[in-house]
Amino acid sequence: MPLIIATLASLALCFAPAPGAAATVSARRPLRGNDTLVSAQGKFELGLFSPAGSSGGRLYLGIWYKNVPVQTVVWVGNRAAPLSAVASTELRVSTEDGNLELVGPTSASASPVVVWSSNLSPSLPGSNTAEIRDDGNLVLLAGGNTSNVLWQSFDHPTDTLVPDAWVGENKLTGEYQTLTSWRNAQDPAPGMFTDTVDPNGTSEFFYMWNHSRTYWRTGMWTGRTFATMPEVRNNVLVNTTYVETPAFRRVSDILYDNATIARLVLDLTGQAKRYIWMPGSQSWQLYWAAPTLQCDVYALCGVFGVCDQRSQLPCRCLPGFAPASEVDWTLNDWSGGCRRSSSLTCANNGSTTDGFLPLPDVKLPDGDSLAVGAAQSKAECESTCQSNCSCQAYAFSAGAKGCTVWHEEIRNLEQLYADSGVSGSDLHLRLSQEGLDILHGADSKKRGRRLGLVVGIPLAGLAALGASVILAWRILLAGRRRLASMENEKGSSLVVYSYSDLRAATKNFSERLGGGSFGSVYHGVLKGGHKGDNAIQHQVAVKKLESLGRQGDKQFRTEVSTLGLIQHVNLVRLLGFCSAGDEKMLVYEYMPRGSLDRYLFGGGASLSWRERHCIMVGVARGLAYLHHGCHECIIHCDIKPENILLDEDMSPRIADFGMAKLVGRDFSRALTTMRGTIGYLAPEWISGQPISAKADVYSFGMVLFELISGRRNSDGYSMVEVAGSGNSDSWTFFPLWAAGKVVEGEVSAVADPRLRGNMRPEELKRACWIACWCIQDEEAQRPTMAQVVQALEGAIQVHAPPVPRALKHLVTLT
Ligand SMILES: *[C@@H]1O[C@H](CO)[C@@H](O)[C@H](O)[C@H]1NC(C)=O
Ligand SMILES: *[C@@H]1O[C@H](CO)[C@@H](O)[C@H](O)[C@H]1NC(C)=O
Ligand SMILES: *[C@@H]1O[C@H](CO)[C@@H](O)[C@H](O)[C@H]1NC(C)=O
Ligand SMILES: *[C@@H]1O[C@H](CO)[C@@H](O)[C@H](O)[C@H]1NC(C)=O
Ligand SMILES: *[C@@H]1O[C@H](CO)[C@@H](O)[C@H](O)[C@H]1NC(C)=O
Ligand SMILES: *[C@@H]1O[C@H](CO)[C@@H](O)[C@H](O)[C@H]1NC(C)=O
Ligand SMILES: *[C@@H]1O[C@H](CO)[C@@H](O)[C@H](O)[C@H]1NC(C)=O
Ligand SMILES: *[C@@H]1O[C@H](CO)[C@@H](O)[C@H](O)[C@H]1NC(C)=O
Repeated sequence: MPLIIATLASLALCFAPAPGAAATVSARRPLRGNDTLVSAQGKFELGLFSPAGSSGGRLYLGIWYKNVPVQTVVWVGNRAAPLSAVASTELRVSTEDGNLELVGPTSASASPVVVWSSNLSPSLPGSNTAEIRDDGNLVLLAGGNTSNVLWQSFDHPTDTLVPDAWVGENKLTGEYQTLTSWRNAQDPAPGMFTDTVDPNGTSEFFYMWNHSRTYWRTGMWTGRTFATMPEVRNNVLVNTTYVETPAFRRVSDILYDNATIARLVLDLTGQAKRYIWMPGSQSWQLYWAAPTLQCDVYALCGVFGVCDQRSQLPCRCLPGFAPASEVDWTLNDWSGGCRRSSSLTCANNGSTTDGFLPLPDVKLPDGDSLAVGAAQSKAECESTCQSNCSCQAYAFSAGAKGCTVWHEEIRNLEQLYADSGVSGSDLHLRLSQEGLDILHGADSKKRGRRLGLVVGIPLAGLAALGASVILAWRILLAGRRRLASMENEKGSSLVVYSYSDLRAATKNFSERLGGGSFGSVYHGVLKGGHKGDNAIQHQVAVKKLESLGRQGDKQFRTEVSTLGLIQHVNLVRLLGFCSAGDEKMLVYEYMPRGSLDRYLFGGGASLSWRERHCIMVGVARGLAYLHHGCHECIIHCDIKPENILLDEDMSPRIADFGMAKLVGRDFSRALTTMRGTIGYLAPEWISGQPISAKADVYSFGMVLFELISGRRNSDGYSMVEVAGSGNSDSWTFFPLWAAGKVVEGEVSAVADPRLRGNMRPEELKRACWIACWCIQDEEAQRPTMAQVVQALEGAIQVHAPPVPRALKHLVTLT
């Protein structure tokens, strides 16, 4: 018998693949040590790895991209049970029960132990095989039958969703496929954040902290997208789809072009991030993240940590505190939070030398707080907190909230800034006398600097300008619902409406004019002019923002504070707003003709060339005013036909400033995440770089092409068939094709056939050339909107443009 085994072993050795890559793993052919398994087309590789930057000694079974030189692990087997050495490790099919298992030495045991297994109840001993597929799925096959999958890594994702994999629930087994972040940059053990489908059975996905606290939700699947993620529908690279069958409910991404390398990862920051691999720069480019703001992630910074959206790293400790683990913080694992640098001196007989440090403008932590009804003043509130040694902080407001105290631990604090329109409260943090003394020494220097900084920011003018809006805001926050009116700089007023006013004006929101990503727009009639003359009636459009938490709130504030202050004949007028609890509404002048897309793509009466040209010039003027004419440069960020409204005489007005970004203000890293609408987004934006007004120029160029051609550039970013050819090889992205024609001098081929040739050739050529200049990859090559206005009007000459390269790259990935 021993003889036979020896023979078998040597046979196995003869058949063992050359060191390096193997095709399958079986009982006879385990994967040993450093050997790897590579998928058929060479896309994915399976083997042992040490997390980049870690000091070795910890080895994990992982799957990564074979052709991506930056270590990018998409799946980990033994997440929490690392091996300690390469020698004598094996990935094998167990001869006892047919499971795939990883065996090797650990820090606790020098002799090999099973650290990971596919953990199936006993199946066919010995004859199973495992292989890695080109989609990144590691499968265990019964008796080598490729269609009989016993176990697969797609059913057990770690922190990454690759295209064709899924997150959801197996309804037959009750098992969930969830993403869970790594613990830190060097430790794949399960971290604090999880993305899971609603356990209650709906199509909604939740992002949770410590499996207990939901901090972000996708909203329900609408059939095309998730309610809070309108961008997903227009995703350039992947088609995100939710599917429910009797066997499962799950979400998957499907690549439009399987030559792209894209992934979604639940990051250490608790955000889901989408990346695309850029072969040119050999790097991963971020193009989407949710939640958009890092500080919306619950307790990101741990106990006694504070999240600051404006700083390079999101987390810092409260004054008087230091990271509980410096090592973890340097690895971007903030979950351990902070601890006191000097301990409190408190005895429960009431004697203490502890004091309080006021922290202005913070978002107070919810939960775990106690309201102290008896305390009527700040002093009483403070002494209530001081007299109990477990009390860590208090906040006092004269209004309904009164005195609130926090015991034991404080988490989910966020630093707010008055100039971003969100003001927080003062938190009074308990510190030892020693701690306070140290801080006061440091603080007197710091204050001087801070002040200089504030004055130095070239936004002082804006701040003054914004004062009226902020005042309005304050009134809202104070909860008063009565009508109030404020004069803005130009003497026109922004009216604060009550909910009942607007419900009456819109006949209980009965006449819906349309909808955008953030809500519906209703027609309404308001009595009374701005100055209260009741004989006058005027028509308005009321935009009712659906309650979308802070994202919606932010949009609302941006729109009020941006549009409330500016006026231009080509910008839609904001007349007022309403904020009653969760109900947020914006009231605009009514544009009887609706938006441009209806005329361009609606199939109804088409626009004449004259009208189109007027619209081009009008939109260009409106944008030029936003970019150059206001006190501060305003980037609209979402220029598209839906956001261009037409008044009675077809003159255009730019609307929907919810995305607008005031440059210099609120330049949080939200800039690096994608908003706006794909198809109109400049390449620098898709690739996650900060944007400038030139991003609007790009979108305007796209709209110009649409005005010229009468067809949509961006239908789901799917390719459009080039007119007349009917051959699938000739499908191309319309603007690229159009740009090519323009460069070749065939501008009339681009023009809308509905024009029947009735246009001014000179204007057409100029518009085509300008459109092509506007969509150049390099921001510097694109004209400014002021130049565009002049060029469209024929006041300056336009040179023949080159074909934009990035556009070409995006389309010719195949
Ligand atoms: C595994 O690879 C590492 C680095 O490539 C090498 O130093 C080590 O000797 C290899 N171990 C074995 C057992 O082949
Ligand atoms: C392979 O597995 C499938 C699914 O279990 C089964 O229908 C098929 O008969 C098997 N083929 C062979 C050759 O055993
Ligand atoms: C699930 O449903 C129960 C009962 O209807 C409800 O109390 C709970 O809040 C729901 N959970 C979630 C996560 O919505
Ligand atoms: C996370 O939850 C577990 C139990 O659900 C609890 O024991 C643990 O303390 C929690 N972690 C933190 C940091 O609160
Ligand atoms: C996205 O995927 C779904 C389901 O596979 C499919 O029905 C839909 O047509 C796809 N959309 C696009 C734009 O390819
Ligand atoms: C990619 O797509 C091509 C053509 O549609 C197909 O032949 C090929 O098998 C696909 N590759 C993968 C890995 O799916
Ligand atoms: C309170 O207790 C501390 C030590 O426990 C003691 O030093 C102090 O004198 C006590 N103070 C009062 C007012 O009893
Ligand atoms: C301090 O406050 C906590 C929480 O309210 C309470 O449980 C505790 O009894 C208080 N301690 C004293 C000495 O009052």
